[in-house]
Amino acid sequence: MQSPGTPKGINHLVLNVCDIDASHQFWTEVIGFRQVGELEPTPGRREGVKMRFYSGDNDGQTHHHDLALVEKNTLPPPDKGEWGPFASTSAINHIAITFPDREAWLARLEHVRTMGVKFDSRVNHGMTHSLYIRDPNGYGVELVYDLPREVWQGDIDAALNYVEILPTEGAEALEDKKDVPVFGQRV
Ligand SMILES: [Fe+2]
Repeated sequence: MQSPGTPKGINHLVLNVCDIDASHQFWTEVIGFRQVGELEPTPGRREGVKMRFYSGDNDGQTHHHDLALVEKNTLPPPDKGEWGPFASTSAINHIAITFPDREAWLARLEHVRTMGVKFDSRVNHGMTHSLYIRDPNGYGVELVYDLPREVWQGDIDAALNYVEILPTEGAEALEDKKDVPVFGQRV
């Protein structure tokens, strides 16, 4: 039974960032979000505050914001060590960005590489195929496309625990398998 007023999901995310121009460049040029707004300072309030709002493309529709950035010069410097979901010392482990389909995701991976961004990790999970990179603050960013519901809904926990590590360099880093395991299927 559902509890009253069960949430549908996450509406938007606001990140504190060291340098809003560097983060703007990452989230627009590397990831592909579009800036849709900016906080206007008002006299006596929000002085010195820099905040910008961004949207993805949701079937041709713009959201009021999926993501916002707030500049915070006092943030600790980014963790430059090896990134991994269990090695990261950042308060933000990773943010997963959904692409509409496999083709869009593959096109974005190629673009990300053309931009000279390091592929930290590529993984086939049981419910998504994923690329992990880092933003200028050291926050992990996972680019994903969802596998069809029929693949993972039979046993979500098994799909979550499934990890196939893939190459991060060379032509293989841009290859994606179409045959995927199905979870919770009776044989
Ligand atoms: Fe994730």
